[in-house]
Amino acid sequence: MLNESVDGLEIKKDGVYVDVTYGGGGHSKEILKRLGEKGRLIAFDQDADVEGNVVKDERLVMVPQNFKYLKNYLKMYGITQIDGLLADLGVSSHQFDVGERGFSIRFDGPLDMRMSKSNLITAAKIVNEYSEEDLVRLFREYGEINNAKKLVFEIVSKRMGSKFKTTTDLIEVAEKLVPGKMKNKYLAQVFQALRIEVNSELDVLKELLIQAKEVLKPSGRLVVITYHSLEDRLVKNFLKKGSFSGELEKDFFGNQLLDFKLITRKPLTPSNEELQLNNRARSAKLRIAEKLRG
Ligand SMILES: C[S@@+](CC[C@H](N)C(=O)[O-])C[C@H]1O[C@@H](n2cnc3c(N)ncnc32)[C@H](O)[C@@H]1O
Repeated sequence: MLNESVDGLEIKKDGVYVDVTYGGGGHSKEILKRLGEKGRLIAFDQDADVEGNVVKDERLVMVPQNFKYLKNYLKMYGITQIDGLLADLGVSSHQFDVGERGFSIRFDGPLDMRMSKSNLITAAKIVNEYSEEDLVRLFREYGEINNAKKLVFEIVSKRMGSKFKTTTDLIEVAEKLVPGKMKNKYLAQVFQALRIEVNSELDVLKELLIQAKEVLKPSGRLVVITYHSLEDRLVKNFLKKGSFSGELEKDFFGNQLLDFKLITRKPLTPSNEELQLNNRARSAKLRIAEKLRG
């Protein structure tokens, strides 16, 4: 959905745009193609591995930081308002494909899952040290796992003997709990729950959306691609209702307080052709919104 998402920004030649998830740079390169000489692009990525992908272009400033610092860094570069912001959330193909990062159920590697090495919490620390209660909550809320209690019982039994170190250690325990023939789906849910916790994904997304609302110009565009229902729900509620809970924001007099108009009434999803090229996009949802007020 590269073109659809960049189309959604409605790029003005001399505008200021932000790509908060640079990754392999696919979206940023497309934005740069459409910008004129005076346009600017500020890109964020908290993963130091991205450095090698950064294109040399005078219009681009790369910020190797978490996007929760959006406003701080924009201020540092003298920018108070922007014309558009794009977020292509989640994990990049590179992060999934390098076993040492610990994101994938397909490769053995350290149980890490940090998008930024400066993060102090790894997935291993969580499974080895969190209380049973916290683990159950995490697998239920972030993994939407029905038998979370049984899973945590197995995790805690194993860690009393030896600590979890690798993705294989975790898979060996989780495999015992797979309902029916849903092995890959179940393991992916277990990994997703840990990844969300390690990287505080939902909290930083909320911070990003609030700050995006503050820095976008009236008529500025917000384009977000989500990959799981928890983040999509936050984005949908925020854009449609003005709150993360889904309750409609109203002023003292009961008038609706909406900051965005949704351009996509329903989220866009990848075409069959795109899914054949990139199966990972199967859960992607693209939402485009326009800022209403200053
Ligand atoms: C799906 S990839 C983006 C791919 C990119 N749009 C492209 O065209 O190649 C997501 C990227 O966002 C980064 N990322 C995720 N959460 C982040 C955050 N809170 N702050 C900064 N970067 C983040 C990840 O490190 C990863 O490189």
